[in-house]
Amino acid sequence: MELTETLAATDAGVARAAALLRAGRLVAFPTETVYGLGGDARRDETVARIFEAKGRPRFNPLIVHVPSLGEAEKVALFDDRARAVAGAFWPGPLTLVLPLRPGAGLSPLVTAGLGTVAVRVPAHPLARALLQAFGGPLAAPSANPSGRVSPTRAVHVLAGLQGRVAAVLDGGACEVGVESTILGLAEEEPRLLRPGGLPVEALEAALRQPIASGGSAERPSAPGQLASHYAPAAAVRLNAHAAETGEILVGFDPVRGDLTLSETGDLVEAAAALFHALREADALAGPQGRIAFAPVPETGLGRAINDRLRRAAAPRG
Ligand code: TXA
Ligand code: MG
Repeated sequence: MELTETLAATDAGVARAAALLRAGRLVAFPTETVYGLGGDARRDETVARIFEAKGRPRFNPLIVHVPSLGEAEKVALFDDRARAVAGAFWPGPLTLVLPLRPGAGLSPLVTAGLGTVAVRVPAHPLARALLQAFGGPLAAPSANPSGRVSPTRAVHVLAGLQGRVAAVLDGGACEVGVESTILGLAEEEPRLLRPGGLPVEALEAALRQPIASGGSAERPSAPGQLASHYAPAAAVRLNAHAAETGEILVGFDPVRGDLTLSETGDLVEAAAALFHALREADALAGPQGRIAFAPVPETGLGRAINDRLRRAAAPRG
Protein backbone atom coordinates (compact mmCIF):
# COMPACT_ATOMS: atom_id res chain seq x y z
CA MET A 1 0.00 0.00 0.00
CA GLU A 2 1.05 3.61 -0.55
CA LEU A 3 1.76 6.21 2.10
CA THR A 4 -1.00 6.94 4.62
CA GLU A 5 -2.56 10.40 4.13
CA THR A 6 -2.97 12.57 7.21
CA LEU A 7 -6.22 14.52 6.92
CA ALA A 8 -6.92 17.73 8.83
CA ALA A 9 -9.99 18.18 11.03
CA THR A 10 -11.72 20.32 8.40
CA ASP A 11 -14.73 19.90 6.11
CA ALA A 12 -12.33 19.02 3.30
CA GLY A 13 -10.56 16.43 5.46
CA VAL A 14 -13.85 14.80 6.44
CA ALA A 15 -15.05 14.82 2.81
CA ARG A 16 -11.83 13.13 1.66
CA ALA A 17 -12.11 10.52 4.43
CA ALA A 18 -15.74 9.78 3.47
CA ALA A 19 -14.81 9.45 -0.20
CA LEU A 20 -12.05 6.94 0.66
CA LEU A 21 -14.52 4.94 2.80
CA ARG A 22 -17.08 4.94 -0.03
CA ALA A 23 -14.35 3.50 -2.26
CA GLY A 24 -13.97 0.62 0.19
CA ARG A 25 -10.71 1.90 1.71
CA LEU A 26 -9.72 2.01 5.41
CA VAL A 27 -9.60 5.30 7.32
CA ALA A 28 -8.50 5.74 10.94
CA PHE A 29 -10.55 8.35 12.79
CA PRO A 30 -10.76 9.76 16.32
CA THR A 31 -13.51 8.87 18.74
CA GLU A 32 -13.78 10.14 22.32
CA THR A 33 -12.34 6.80 23.53
CA VAL A 34 -9.53 5.81 21.14
CA TYR A 35 -8.82 6.06 17.41
CA GLY A 36 -10.77 3.54 15.34
CA LEU A 37 -9.67 1.73 12.19
CA GLY A 38 -12.79 2.31 10.11
CA GLY A 39 -14.20 0.58 7.06
CA ASP A 40 -17.63 0.07 5.47
CA ALA A 41 -19.31 -2.57 7.67
CA ARG A 42 -21.37 -3.80 4.68
CA ARG A 43 -18.43 -4.76 2.45
CA ASP A 44 -16.85 -8.18 2.98
CA GLU A 45 -13.53 -7.32 1.40
CA THR A 46 -13.18 -4.05 3.32
CA VAL A 47 -13.83 -5.81 6.63
CA ALA A 48 -11.34 -8.54 5.67
CA ARG A 49 -8.77 -5.78 5.10
CA ILE A 50 -9.38 -4.44 8.63
CA PHE A 51 -8.34 -7.80 10.06
CA GLU A 52 -5.39 -7.92 7.65
CA ALA A 53 -4.22 -4.41 8.60
CA LYS A 54 -4.35 -5.24 12.33
CA GLY A 55 -2.74 -8.65 11.83
CA ARG A 56 -5.44 -10.20 14.03
CA PRO A 57 -4.97 -13.97 14.40
CA ARG A 58 -8.72 -14.54 14.67
CA PHE A 59 -12.01 -13.09 13.51
CA ASN A 60 -13.38 -11.67 16.74
CA PRO A 61 -16.43 -9.50 16.12
CA LEU A 62 -16.05 -5.74 15.56
CA ILE A 63 -18.02 -2.76 16.84
CA VAL A 64 -20.33 -1.07 14.32
CA HIS A 65 -20.35 2.73 14.59
CA VAL A 66 -23.47 4.68 13.57
CA PRO A 67 -24.51 8.34 13.92
CA SER A 68 -27.77 7.90 15.84
CA LEU A 69 -30.13 5.56 17.67
CA GLY A 70 -32.31 5.56 14.55
CA GLU A 71 -29.43 4.22 12.45
CA ALA A 72 -28.52 1.73 15.19
CA GLU A 73 -32.06 0.33 15.02
CA LYS A 74 -31.44 -0.50 11.35
CA VAL A 75 -28.76 -3.04 12.30
CA ALA A 76 -29.82 -4.26 15.77
CA LEU A 77 -33.05 -5.16 17.56
CA PHE A 78 -33.70 -2.82 20.51
CA ASP A 79 -36.01 -3.55 23.42
CA ASP A 80 -37.16 -0.97 26.00
CA ARG A 81 -34.09 -1.50 28.19
CA ALA A 82 -31.72 -1.01 25.27
CA ARG A 83 -33.55 2.17 24.26
CA ALA A 84 -33.37 3.44 27.84
CA VAL A 85 -29.58 3.06 28.15
CA ALA A 86 -29.02 4.33 24.61
CA GLY A 87 -31.18 7.35 25.41
CA ALA A 88 -29.21 8.02 28.60
CA PHE A 89 -25.64 7.50 27.31
CA TRP A 90 -25.51 7.95 23.53
CA PRO A 91 -23.61 9.57 22.02
CA GLY A 92 -20.84 8.36 24.32
CA PRO A 93 -18.40 5.63 25.35
CA LEU A 94 -20.98 2.82 25.51
CA THR A 95 -21.31 -0.16 23.16
CA LEU A 96 -24.44 -2.35 23.23
CA VAL A 97 -24.44 -5.99 22.13
CA LEU A 98 -27.93 -6.76 20.80
CA PRO A 99 -29.61 -9.28 18.51
CA LEU A 100 -28.64 -8.67 14.89
CA ARG A 101 -31.55 -7.35 12.83
CA PRO A 102 -32.31 -9.85 10.04
CA GLY A 103 -31.45 -8.37 6.67
CA ALA A 104 -29.32 -5.63 8.26
CA GLY A 105 -26.88 -5.96 5.39
CA LEU A 106 -23.72 -6.13 7.49
CA SER A 107 -20.84 -8.32 6.37
CA PRO A 108 -20.91 -11.55 8.41
CA LEU A 109 -17.21 -10.91 9.13
CA VAL A 110 -18.21 -7.92 11.31
CA THR A 111 -20.22 -10.14 13.65
CA ALA A 112 -17.91 -13.16 13.19
CA GLY A 113 -21.01 -15.05 12.08
CA LEU A 114 -22.78 -14.41 15.42
CA GLY A 115 -26.48 -13.66 15.74
CA THR A 116 -25.65 -10.55 17.77
CA VAL A 117 -24.03 -7.24 16.88
CA ALA A 118 -22.10 -4.63 18.88
CA VAL A 119 -23.20 -1.05 18.10
CA ARG A 120 -22.20 2.34 19.34
CA VAL A 121 -22.85 6.03 18.66
CA PRO A 122 -19.60 7.91 19.30
CA ALA A 123 -19.62 11.43 20.73
CA HIS A 124 -16.47 12.86 19.11
CA PRO A 125 -17.50 15.65 16.70
CA LEU A 126 -15.16 14.39 13.96
CA ALA A 127 -16.44 10.83 14.25
CA ARG A 128 -19.98 12.17 14.01
CA ALA A 129 -19.13 14.38 11.02
CA LEU A 130 -17.48 11.41 9.30
CA LEU A 131 -20.44 9.08 9.92
CA GLN A 132 -22.82 11.73 8.53
CA ALA A 133 -20.66 12.35 5.46
CA PHE A 134 -20.13 8.63 4.81
CA GLY A 135 -23.78 7.78 5.35
CA GLY A 136 -23.41 4.14 6.43
CA PRO A 137 -22.30 1.90 9.30
CA LEU A 138 -18.55 1.79 10.01
CA ALA A 139 -16.82 -1.23 11.50
CA ALA A 140 -14.00 0.12 13.65
CA PRO A 141 -11.74 -1.73 16.05
CA SER A 142 -9.02 0.27 17.78
CA ALA A 143 -6.49 1.48 15.19
CA ASN A 144 -3.45 -0.47 16.42
CA PRO A 145 -1.74 -3.66 15.30
CA SER A 146 -3.07 -6.69 17.17
CA GLY A 147 -1.55 -7.04 20.63
CA ARG A 148 -0.40 -3.41 20.91
CA VAL A 149 -1.91 -0.61 22.98
CA SER A 150 -4.80 1.41 21.59
CA PRO A 151 -3.92 4.74 19.94
CA THR A 152 -5.15 8.02 21.40
CA ARG A 153 -3.39 10.33 18.92
CA ALA A 154 -2.96 10.32 15.15
CA VAL A 155 0.81 9.83 15.52
CA HIS A 156 0.16 6.61 17.46
CA VAL A 157 -1.96 5.34 14.56
CA LEU A 158 0.80 6.14 12.08
CA ALA A 159 3.43 4.49 14.29
CA GLY A 160 1.55 1.19 14.05
CA LEU A 161 -0.35 1.27 10.77
CA GLN A 162 1.59 3.55 8.39
CA GLY A 163 1.05 2.18 4.86
CA ARG A 164 -1.69 -0.21 6.02
CA VAL A 165 -4.51 2.33 6.05
CA ALA A 166 -5.39 4.87 3.35
CA ALA A 167 -5.69 7.84 5.71
CA VAL A 168 -5.87 9.02 9.28
CA LEU A 169 -8.19 11.86 10.22
CA ASP A 170 -6.26 13.91 12.80
CA GLY A 171 -8.46 15.01 15.68
CA GLY A 172 -5.74 15.48 18.28
CA ALA A 173 -5.80 13.59 21.57
CA CYS A 174 -8.77 11.41 22.60
CA GLU A 175 -10.54 12.64 25.73
CA VAL A 176 -11.51 9.35 27.38
CA GLY A 177 -8.41 7.36 26.41
CA VAL A 178 -9.80 3.88 27.10
CA GLU A 179 -12.22 1.85 24.98
CA SER A 180 -15.99 1.99 25.34
CA THR A 181 -17.79 -0.02 28.00
CA ILE A 182 -19.52 -3.01 26.36
CA LEU A 183 -22.93 -3.97 27.76
CA GLY A 184 -24.51 -7.22 26.59
CA LEU A 185 -28.29 -6.94 26.28
CA ALA A 186 -28.89 -9.83 23.89
CA GLU A 187 -30.03 -12.09 26.72
CA GLU A 188 -32.35 -11.61 29.65
CA GLU A 189 -29.58 -10.80 32.15
CA PRO A 190 -27.56 -7.69 31.28
CA ARG A 191 -23.83 -8.44 31.22
CA LEU A 192 -20.74 -6.30 31.40
CA LEU A 193 -18.70 -7.71 28.48
CA ARG A 194 -15.88 -5.15 28.78
CA PRO A 195 -15.30 -2.43 31.37
CA GLY A 196 -14.44 0.88 29.71
CA GLY A 197 -14.98 4.60 29.52
CA LEU A 198 -18.50 4.59 31.00
CA PRO A 199 -18.59 3.46 34.66
CA VAL A 200 -20.69 0.36 35.25
CA GLU A 201 -22.34 2.11 38.22
CA ALA A 202 -23.91 4.59 35.80
CA LEU A 203 -25.39 1.70 33.81
CA GLU A 204 -26.65 -0.03 36.94
CA ALA A 205 -28.38 3.19 37.99
CA ALA A 206 -30.03 3.56 34.58
CA LEU A 207 -31.15 -0.10 34.45
CA ARG A 208 -32.04 -0.11 38.18
CA GLN A 209 -30.37 -3.49 38.62
CA PRO A 210 -26.89 -4.93 39.25
CA ILE A 211 -24.94 -6.01 36.18
CA ALA A 212 -23.02 -9.29 36.17
CA SER A 213 -19.50 -9.25 34.76
CA GLY A 214 -17.88 -11.65 32.40
CA GLY A 215 -18.30 -13.43 29.17
CA SER A 216 -17.23 -12.08 25.83
CA ALA A 217 -17.09 -13.38 22.30
CA GLU A 218 -13.32 -13.60 22.66
CA ARG A 219 -13.18 -15.40 25.98
CA PRO A 220 -16.59 -16.90 26.59
CA SER A 221 -17.36 -17.72 30.21
CA ALA A 222 -20.66 -19.45 29.47
CA PRO A 223 -20.47 -22.52 27.24
CA GLY A 224 -23.40 -21.32 25.13
CA GLN A 225 -21.52 -18.28 23.91
CA LEU A 226 -19.04 -20.21 21.82
CA ALA A 227 -21.76 -22.50 20.49
CA SER A 228 -23.60 -19.46 19.21
CA HIS A 229 -20.78 -18.89 16.71
CA TYR A 230 -22.05 -20.11 13.37
CA ALA A 231 -21.30 -23.82 13.28
CA PRO A 232 -22.24 -25.82 10.21
CA ALA A 233 -24.62 -28.73 10.74
CA ALA A 234 -22.51 -30.80 8.35
CA ALA A 235 -19.29 -32.50 9.50
CA VAL A 236 -16.17 -30.57 8.47
CA ARG A 237 -12.83 -32.02 7.30
CA LEU A 238 -9.75 -29.79 6.83
CA ASN A 239 -6.67 -29.88 4.58
CA ALA A 240 -8.50 -31.76 1.84
CA HIS A 241 -6.83 -32.01 -1.57
CA ALA A 242 -9.83 -33.71 -3.18
CA ALA A 243 -13.44 -34.48 -2.25
CA GLU A 244 -14.25 -37.91 -0.88
CA THR A 245 -17.58 -39.48 -1.89
CA GLY A 246 -20.51 -37.33 -0.77
CA GLU A 247 -18.40 -34.36 0.35
CA ILE A 248 -18.90 -30.76 -0.70
CA LEU A 249 -15.40 -29.42 -1.35
CA VAL A 250 -14.55 -25.77 -0.70
CA GLY A 251 -11.47 -24.94 -2.74
CA PHE A 252 -8.54 -22.58 -2.34
CA ASP A 253 -5.92 -22.32 -5.07
CA PRO A 254 -4.62 -24.74 -6.32
CA VAL A 255 -7.46 -27.02 -5.12
CA ARG A 256 -10.66 -26.59 -7.17
CA GLY A 257 -13.91 -27.22 -5.32
CA ASP A 258 -17.68 -27.08 -5.65
CA LEU A 259 -17.25 -23.62 -4.14
CA THR A 260 -14.06 -21.68 -3.67
CA LEU A 261 -12.57 -19.32 -1.10
CA SER A 262 -10.22 -17.96 -3.75
CA GLU A 263 -9.22 -19.33 -7.15
CA THR A 264 -6.11 -17.16 -7.13
CA GLY A 265 -4.90 -17.88 -3.60
CA ASP A 266 -5.83 -14.38 -2.42
CA LEU A 267 -6.25 -14.42 1.38
CA VAL A 268 -8.26 -11.16 1.53
CA GLU A 269 -10.73 -12.60 -0.97
CA ALA A 270 -10.81 -15.87 1.00
CA ALA A 271 -11.52 -14.11 4.31
CA ALA A 272 -14.26 -12.06 2.66
CA ALA A 273 -15.85 -15.27 1.31
CA LEU A 274 -15.41 -17.42 4.43
CA PHE A 275 -18.73 -17.03 6.28
CA HIS A 276 -20.73 -17.07 3.05
CA ALA A 277 -18.94 -20.28 2.00
CA LEU A 278 -19.59 -21.95 5.37
CA ARG A 279 -23.33 -21.29 5.01
CA GLU A 280 -23.52 -22.20 1.33
CA ALA A 281 -21.56 -25.43 1.74
CA ASP A 282 -23.72 -26.33 4.73
CA ALA A 283 -26.88 -25.79 2.69
CA LEU A 284 -25.52 -27.85 -0.21
CA ALA A 285 -24.32 -30.68 2.04
CA GLY A 286 -27.51 -30.96 4.09
CA PRO A 287 -27.75 -31.90 7.78
CA GLN A 288 -26.17 -35.37 7.45
CA GLY A 289 -23.66 -34.11 4.91
CA ARG A 290 -19.94 -33.52 4.96
CA ILE A 291 -17.86 -30.51 3.94
CA ALA A 292 -14.16 -30.58 3.10
CA PHE A 293 -11.93 -27.49 3.00
CA ALA A 294 -8.78 -27.19 0.93
CA PRO A 295 -5.60 -26.18 2.80
CA VAL A 296 -5.17 -22.45 3.46
CA PRO A 297 -1.63 -21.21 4.23
CA GLU A 298 -0.96 -20.26 7.86
CA THR A 299 0.25 -16.73 7.03
CA GLY A 300 -1.36 -13.29 7.38
CA LEU A 301 -5.15 -13.57 7.18
CA GLY A 302 -4.72 -17.32 6.66
CA ARG A 303 -4.17 -17.67 10.42
CA ALA A 304 -7.58 -16.17 11.20
CA ILE A 305 -9.23 -18.24 8.45
CA ASN A 306 -7.67 -21.45 9.79
CA ASP A 307 -8.64 -20.55 13.37
CA ARG A 308 -12.27 -20.26 12.26
CA LEU A 309 -12.11 -23.45 10.18
CA ARG A 310 -10.57 -25.44 13.05
CA ARG A 311 -13.45 -24.35 15.26
CA ALA A 312 -15.97 -25.33 12.56
CA ALA A 313 -14.29 -28.76 12.37
CA ALA A 314 -14.01 -29.31 16.15
CA PRO A 315 -16.10 -32.20 17.51
CA ARG A 316 -19.45 -31.07 18.89
CA GLY A 317 -21.53 -32.72 21.54
O1 TXA B 1 -13.95 2.48 22.24
C1 TXA B 1 -14.18 1.57 21.44
O2 TXA B 1 -15.10 0.77 21.59
C2 TXA B 1 -13.29 1.50 20.20
C3 TXA B 1 -13.50 2.76 19.38
C4 TXA B 1 -12.72 2.75 18.09
O3 TXA B 1 -14.88 2.91 19.11
N1 TXA B 1 -13.58 0.33 19.42
C5 TXA B 1 -13.25 -0.92 19.83
O4 TXA B 1 -13.64 -1.90 18.93
O5 TXA B 1 -12.69 -1.18 20.87
P1 TXA B 1 -13.16 -3.37 18.92
O6 TXA B 1 -13.66 -3.88 17.57
O7 TXA B 1 -11.70 -3.51 19.15
O8 TXA B 1 -13.94 -4.05 20.06
C6 TXA B 1 -14.51 -5.28 19.76
C7 TXA B 1 -14.88 -6.03 20.98
C8 TXA B 1 -14.61 -7.49 20.74
O9 TXA B 1 -13.30 -7.82 21.11
C9 TXA B 1 -15.63 -8.15 21.59
O10 TXA B 1 -15.12 -8.28 22.89
C10 TXA B 1 -16.78 -7.16 21.61
O11 TXA B 1 -16.28 -5.95 21.14
N2 TXA B 1 -17.86 -7.59 20.72
C11 TXA B 1 -18.13 -7.18 19.47
N3 TXA B 1 -19.21 -7.80 18.98
C12 TXA B 1 -19.63 -8.63 19.93
C13 TXA B 1 -20.70 -9.55 20.03
N4 TXA B 1 -21.56 -9.74 19.02
N5 TXA B 1 -20.84 -10.24 21.18
C14 TXA B 1 -19.98 -10.05 22.20
N6 TXA B 1 -18.95 -9.19 22.18
C15 TXA B 1 -18.77 -8.49 21.06
MG1 MG C 1 -8.33 -3.01 20.63
